[in-house]
Amino acid sequence: MKAKPNDKPFLTDIQTLRERARKHIEQGAVTSGYKGDRNTVVKLLNEALATEIVCVLRYKRHYYMADGIHAKSVADEFLQHANEEQAHADRIAQRIVQLGGEPDLAPDSLTARSHAEYKEGKDLVDMIRENLVAERIAIDSYADMIRYVGEDDPTTRRLLEDVLGQEEEHADEMKTLLEVMVKSSG
Ligand SMILES: [Fe+2]
Ligand SMILES: [Fe+2]
Repeated sequence: MKAKPNDKPFLTDIQTLRERARKHIEQGAVTSGYKGDRNTVVKLLNEALATEIVCVLRYKRHYYMADGIHAKSVADEFLQHANEEQAHADRIAQRIVQLGGEPDLAPDSLTARSHAEYKEGKDLVDMIRENLVAERIAIDSYADMIRYVGEDDPTTRRLLEDVLGQEEEHADEMKTLLEVMVKSSG
């Protein structure tokens, strides 16, 4: 096979890259090559952050309640998810700061800003169902954000894609738990 000549122009010449990097160094990781709409990206990330924190709180509540009714394996799953949602929150908050924004962790407005809801659930099956619903909301909202970010901000996109992958695993695990519980109770 003959090598195709690369007809794409080289992105930016070294001189321009060096000059651009020296300008606005106070903006840290945000260079003039950044193609995203920074305010909107930060706003979206803050909504995701609120969602993650609400998910941490919901899973924690469910963990303690399930533990109390001796559902050890389900409780362990809830705790693991709580920890993973916290890790998502931390990565998102870090990215917000990298983009020159501020993570909004104000507790008063948290539930209003979160996409997913804080539902206590009346029993074990109900808790699992609520978590599955919340995961499905998270999946849809991360997919939306990924589409919005597109090619403009590859780092944020990669972060969102990572998190989305884990939310899909979470949803799948909740679905399996729900099936097991419904089968064993019926
Ligand atoms: Fe998450
Ligand atoms: Fe999740």
